[in-house]
Amino acid sequence: MKFPASYYNPISLIGSIIAGVNIVIILFFLIAMMFFNVGGSYIGLYIYMILPIFLISGLIMIPIGMIRRTRRLKRIGEDGVKKGLKIDLDDKKQRNAMAVFVLGSFVFLLLTAVGSYEAFHFTESNEFCGLLCHTVMEPEYEAYEGSSHARVKCVECHVGAGADWYVKSKLSGMYQVYSVLFKKFPKPIPTPIENLRPAQETCEKCHWPEKFYSYRIQNEKHYLADSANTEWNIQLKMKTGSEHIAMGLVDGIHWHINKDVKIEYIASSSEREFVPWVRYINLATGDSVVYQDIYDTMDPTLLDSLEVREMDCIDCHNRPSHDYLPPQEFTDLLIASGQIPVELPEVKTLAMEVFNNTYADRDTARQVIEKRTLEFYSSNYPQIMEENRKLVDKAIEGFMYGFSKNIFPEMKASWDVYPNHIGHIEYNGCFRCHNGNHMNSDNQVISRDCNLCHTILAQGTKENYKSTSINESLEFIHPVDIDESWKEYACFECHRYLY
Ligand code: HEC
Ligand code: HEC
Ligand code: HEC
Ligand code: HEC
Ligand code: HEC
Ligand code: HEC
Repeated sequence: MKFPASYYNPISLIGSIIAGVNIVIILFFLIAMMFFNVGGSYIGLYIYMILPIFLISGLIMIPIGMIRRTRRLKRIGEDGVKKGLKIDLDDKKQRNAMAVFVLGSFVFLLLTAVGSYEAFHFTESNEFCGLLCHTVMEPEYEAYEGSSHARVKCVECHVGAGADWYVKSKLSGMYQVYSVLFKKFPKPIPTPIENLRPAQETCEKCHWPEKFYSYRIQNEKHYLADSANTEWNIQLKMKTGSEHIAMGLVDGIHWHINKDVKIEYIASSSEREFVPWVRYINLATGDSVVYQDIYDTMDPTLLDSLEVREMDCIDCHNRPSHDYLPPQEFTDLLIASGQIPVELPEVKTLAMEVFNNTYADRDTARQVIEKRTLEFYSSNYPQIMEENRKLVDKAIEGFMYGFSKNIFPEMKASWDVYPNHIGHIEYNGCFRCHNGNHMNSDNQVISRDCNLCHTILAQGTKENYKSTSINESLEFIHPVDIDESWKEYACFECHRYLY
């Protein structure tokens, strides 16, 4: 088959070879992926993004070569070149070229359509968001994999439906690619996200506030840092909704997102952990009440300069899928699940000691933790080391498992930098407003009543477990004797710095 003379030049020929080779590779990968189910998370990157760049560059080289060649032929006046653009289908060479051009364009357009559709899908996939920039996204991805949202795609919360947010996310995505390539990204990645899509447009696609539950029973298991790792249980009835679901969100915890309620606040730190100013607006009556923290006061001009934020789901559920647990919490969970043996004396105390250190990377952590654990049991419990060494080895594996799921030294990501606003034990959480110090002009405070948000149905050790009926509440007993100080201090003021 012959092509116009202008085609026969090095640039066009090299372009054709590049394009041809890439088409073959792409088809090969596609077939391999479809029929033999091979290829990991990166194959999409090659098929839909990298190889097409070469393919298109090859295709562009063909006309460039031809134009250069034509110009040259014109200059030296060789034959076969006519002035202007005339297509003569009687000429066999031109007919061939034309057929190849039409067929090629058709195939190319088809591939482009399929390719861009797949490229779109690929950039929306969890592999693209979570695995491609492995070190950067590792903490978020690991935590996500262990969350209730592990089957919800990253983009369903971070982008949502609609073209405008798609474009916005791709624009900021381009900056992110740049910052990863040139290592300009911050460690840890700052939270909160500056322009996260409003929760109503993402969370409420799946969670419908009209149909929230009334209550939720929560069982918590703790192990004290004593020689027996004493088990301490607490059962709470969380008052998430109203007494009866038909009443809507008239009271209970989800009252804050009632259609008639608007709560605005000003945070004094960028992580939104301290809230000196709150305004509650009743949208039905138009009344509004301002509460200010009597201890954490702020200069009015400074207050005016800060962002007023309207409360939504994220102001409580800020860690729905990236929850880095504090060591005391994940250790309790691992003891409860048996991954850290409860029979091993002082294992909770030791866990708190080793997790209280910071490590440069995971390998160093493993070395230090392993060494310290072996040393601890050798010198304090030599009999266990001799007769039951496997318990100690199991504990080390348990420690490292907890570490690998919750602490990410490379990205400096851990519970300490990513507070969870639900609750009030290790973080300020609900007590950002409900600490009993936020007062309005009538000297009323936002309630800190222990029965406002939950009741305690049962508590105590295994041997001494006290319980009551579902409509009653026990008075809280602090697991270790700290006198009445839990009534005066916020729990997090001790618990954040316990170990
Ligand atoms: C259920 C919804 C949801 C899903 C699914 C989800 N995220 Fe998030 N993500 C959030 C919320 C909420 C925040 C915190 C927002 C805030 O506080 O401003 C967040 C924060 C982040 C941050 C900022 C750092 C931080 O921890 O605050 C990164 C990075 C991130 N997500 C990446 C991902 C990746 C990658 C995936 C998929 C593997 C994913 N997210 C899936 C809801 C989600
Ligand atoms: C694509 C659907 C989807 C989206 C979007 C979504 N979720 Fe979920 N969510 C789920 C599913 C599914 C579950 C698991 C339900 C279960 O375990 O019964 C869940 C569970 C939860 C739970 C209970 C988890 C637990 O462990 O107690 C909370 C709280 C929650 N989601 C909050 C949010 C918030 C906040 C957002 C927005 C940032 C959000 N969800 C976005 C589907 C979604
Ligand atoms: C004032 C804080 C607060 C706000 C605002 C809030 N939640 Fe919750 N939500 C809670 C608490 C506390 C629980 C109880 C469970 C727990 O402690 O994790 C809960 C439970 C849930 C659950 C699981 C139990 C259930 O009732 O189904 C879902 C799902 C949920 N919230 C979704 C949302 C969504 C979606 C929004 C925004 C429209 C929202 N929440 C706003 C505090 C809040
Ligand atoms: C930004 C401030 C703020 C935060 C954070 C906050 N609340 Fe509130 N909450 C309020 C205000 C204001 C009221 C109304 C006080 C009043 O009218 O006395 C309120 C009322 C309540 C009520 C009573 C609702 C009713 O009328 O029955 C419950 C329950 C509640 N909050 C639970 C929580 C929980 C649980 C959290 C943490 C997950 C939380 N709140 C976090 C500001 C906040
Ligand atoms: C404004 C709402 C609110 C108030 C007021 C409040 N709590 Fe809580 N509390 C919560 C929430 C929300 C959680 C659940 C955290 C979670 O889901 O892990 C919680 C959890 C707990 C737990 C279980 C912790 C665990 O991990 O085992 C205890 C115990 C507790 N609260 C005691 C108290 C006591 C005592 C008071 C009174 C000083 C009090 N709470 C006041 C909202 C509140
Ligand atoms: C004066 C400091 C202080 C205050 C305030 C305080 N605690 Fe504690 N808490 C402790 C100490 C010390 C321990 C024992 C730690 C251990 O044995 O691991 C403890 C242990 C606990 C434990 C079990 C241990 C575990 O696994 O985490 C729970 C649950 C607990 N406290 C809840 C609360 C709650 C809820 C509040 C607030 C109402 C509170 N504490 C306020 C000091 C405090």
